[in-house]
Amino acid sequence: MIRRPLTLAYARWHARRPHVHDIHGLAILVNPWVFDPVLTKVGAWLAGVAPTLSRPNECWLELGAGSGVVACALARAGARVVATDIDAQACRNVRMNAALNELVVDVRQGDLFAPVEGERFDGIVANLPFWPGDQQAPIGHAFSAGRDFELLRRFVAEAPTFAPRAYLALSERFGAFSQARAALGPSARLERRARHRGEWLDLFAVD
Ligand SMILES: C[S@@+](CC[C@H](N)C(=O)[O-])C[C@H]1O[C@@H](n2cnc3c(N)ncnc32)[C@H](O)[C@@H]1O
Repeated sequence: MIRRPLTLAYARWHARRPHVHDIHGLAILVNPWVFDPVLTKVGAWLAGVAPTLSRPNECWLELGAGSGVVACALARAGARVVATDIDAQACRNVRMNAALNELVVDVRQGDLFAPVEGERFDGIVANLPFWPGDQQAPIGHAFSAGRDFELLRRFVAEAPTFAPRAYLALSERFGAFSQARAALGPSARLERRARHRGEWLDLFAVD
């Protein structure tokens, strides 16, 4: 189901206000126009799940880090973490949250895998936009995956070059879930699933 008008109106209102959340014991500042990990529950949920997928000293990549909640959770669990985002404000926000929580996260700005070209990781996690549409609309990069979900298709196609394990989270309530799921392709398998207040949260393995 697509609840686009209501969600976007709320997202626009929400995005203008800085917030601080306690997420799994991490203090997470969310600056204006950076994606709030509790707007849908995916980011906060993924921050709880990602450390259970990683082992200490492994090297993990988070793509589309936003506020950095998932990258910080991985770093706190002992992983070495590279976090990327196409948005400069998001990258600044990740650095702030890493510092706030006294964690080390290597933050790089750029499009999807471009900032880590030629590198290998033990695993990749991502909560990428899953609205169909242009990258610039409607509130910047956080909400759009391209007209035909090109962002998700690129993630699936390129991830194996960078790591043996890659995971992508989706909410069944927000965005255009069924189209986004289809864009992952038939080989993507459901790795974890949880329900939060009527919102189904899915983690797909795309290795
Ligand atoms: C849904 S938000 C998720 C943020 C965070 N990972 C979380 O779970 O709360 C998606 C993030 O992906 C970033 N993004 C969008 N397109 C991107 C691209 N082509 N390359 C890298 N990051 C991108 C956005 O700027 C945004 O911060």
